[in-house]
Amino acid sequence: MQQSELDFINSLRQSSRYIEEHRGKTCVIYLPGELLLKEASRKQLAQDVGLLHNLGLKLVLVMGATPQIDAALKLYGEEWQTHQQFRITTTEMLPVFQQAIGTVKTQLEASFSQANCMQPTPITITSGNWVIAQPKGVIEGIDYQHTGKLRKINHQAIAANLDAGQIALLTPLAYSLTGEVFNLNTLEQACEVASAIKADKLMVFTTPAEMQQLPKQLSIPELDGVLLTPSTADQQRLLTQIRKTSQNVKRVHLMDKQDPSAILIELFTRDGSGTLIFSDRYHQVRDAQIEDVGGILDLISPLEQQGVLVKRSRELLELEIGNFIVLERDQHIIGCAALYQHENDFGELACLAVHPQYQGQELGSELLAAVENKAKALSLKTLFLLTTHTQHWFIEHGFQADEKEKLPEKRQSLYNFQRNSKVLFKPLY
Ligand SMILES: CC(C)(COP(=O)(O)OP(=O)(O)OC[C@H]1O[C@@H](n2cnc3c(N)ncnc32)[C@H](O)[C@@H]1OP(=O)(O)O)[C@@H](O)C(=O)NCCC(=O)NCCS
Repeated sequence: MQQSELDFINSLRQSSRYIEEHRGKTCVIYLPGELLLKEASRKQLAQDVGLLHNLGLKLVLVMGATPQIDAALKLYGEEWQTHQQFRITTTEMLPVFQQAIGTVKTQLEASFSQANCMQPTPITITSGNWVIAQPKGVIEGIDYQHTGKLRKINHQAIAANLDAGQIALLTPLAYSLTGEVFNLNTLEQACEVASAIKADKLMVFTTPAEMQQLPKQLSIPELDGVLLTPSTADQQRLLTQIRKTSQNVKRVHLMDKQDPSAILIELFTRDGSGTLIFSDRYHQVRDAQIEDVGGILDLISPLEQQGVLVKRSRELLELEIGNFIVLERDQHIIGCAALYQHENDFGELACLAVHPQYQGQELGSELLAAVENKAKALSLKTLFLLTTHTQHWFIEHGFQADEKEKLPEKRQSLYNFQRNSKVLFKPLY
């Protein structure tokens, strides 16, 4: 069998558990206008969304069209006026809006027809007047005219479409009960629709700047921590919106909008492509404190007795507690890991453990990701570890076995020949 075939089989095996996990789940996907600008990107997206649909996900797409509207306004010599960072949609601008949004919508629908033409049952996209809007109003004397806000969502109608096997599509345009047309902020709309239909997931394509310094996974307490010192004002706006949504939607994924295929990587691989914000697991990864020593010892002592981990005394652990991170759930330490810095930008991962009762929930992967992030923050270039029992788990997580002579010199001199541990390395990018 060729390597490419083996790689394919391995990927399929690894993704099968996620396929099972996502089947039947409702997912709202926010598509910013930038993602829909190029035909190739629209086509790629349409294929991937079609695949998700075929794998049994119920999908609601919320499309934006900001760059397309900007270009159309420029063509007509119109300019945006803003107040308090919100754009004012004037009555004169409205026809340009309707035209630009209509064009993007038809382009997207056309891409779907093309991308899925070979399927026995073509995928249907439907849209409707499911969102009732109202005027944003007059604020500080400024009339926002046709800039609207969301008033009500006919979530039963959206759900009925999803149950009928259709993909629902929402645009920035929504209508008031008085028959007026309004321009809505689409990210806000995506969040509110996800909450109203109690979606299992909200997937948001966003900019790398808005995801700056965010780890692969964020619990709600961690998100609250990031919100205290966000990297940028845009990140703060996005995360504040997500924080509100997380009360109703348990999982929110942030992905890079340059890459339409990020959605498949995010949903079907262990590491994902962006950041997952979750509120359905009540644990947090944090730096260990001296008070955690007892909890860590309870966790690692049985593994030390089995010879899986090297023995550490309480005194040594107290001394080295600054190297540890812990995974805490309901005030119990259910996981830990340590990072030691060595010469030549090497970092050593040690003492990774998850309580047996909680194994198999990817908590080990989460701890590993946290150690990798910590190592990157210290500008380390390579992570290594010594293991006697867990080599394969680490290989599945990107490590490679090599000779112990590749270890930093001081660490080599401490190598315990009796334990005869395997030595594994992982470059940090
Ligand atoms: C290794 C460990 C940290 C993984 O934690 P976890 O939260 O269960 O990890 P994940 O949920 O991300 O991964 C679970 C998968 O790893 C597999 N796995 C667990 N231990 C393994 C091992 N020793 N070798 C190979 N695979 C292993 C599980 O079978 C499971 O596979 P599946 O997804 O196909 O069902 C945990 O098993 C542990 O604490 N082991 C004992 C301590 C240890 O060996 N530490 C390493 C010290 S160097």
